[in-house]
Amino acid sequence: MAAEGRHSASAAVAERIERRWAAISIVIIAFLTGMAAFAGIHQATMPQAQVETIDPVTLPVSGEFVESNLGSALEPDGSVTVRLVGQQYSFTPSCILVPKDTPVRLRATSADVVHGLFIRQTNINTMLVPGYVSDLPARFKRAGEYLMPCQEYCSVGHEGMWAKVKVIEKDAFTALAADKRRLSCVE
Ligand code: CUA
Repeated sequence: MAAEGRHSASAAVAERIERRWAAISIVIIAFLTGMAAFAGIHQATMPQAQVETIDPVTLPVSGEFVESNLGSALEPDGSVTVRLVGQQYSFTPSCILVPKDTPVRLRATSADVVHGLFIRQTNINTMLVPGYVSDLPARFKRAGEYLMPCQEYCSVGHEGMWAKVKVIEKDAFTALAADKRRLSCVE
């Protein structure tokens, strides 16, 4: 009799604990589901982070993407910023010069329609959309030449739209940058 009482008492305790854990796990699942739903809805309704807009009409005459400002610039911290513009059917500059093993920041836009910026043998691939600035980091581990074809169909001359990226040693780049504000390998 006494033993049976103890048994049913411990069964009741076990059941209570089990119910509590069941409730906790439901709360955890509800919390995670809520979080995933919130993150999804938030991402779908918010604009992309760091959207930079630019007026394609004034592009050649004022602002960051005037022709004299295109090409590679050596920054005070030793990194390099490359500015380029895509237009039917070429890139300016058509030969981009960068140093090896250096943080490079590519800033590019389009002067007319959507073009694609893709550097072969790398994972650098983005769209150039008129009205927007594409900004992406890069680093080249090997010196040499990389082809940069337009990667987005942009009308009849698309196939012939390409540029190249020339990666040179850091010292050589720094020496060239000493007497030129913007560098490129356009001959
Ligand atoms: Cu530009 Cu295709």
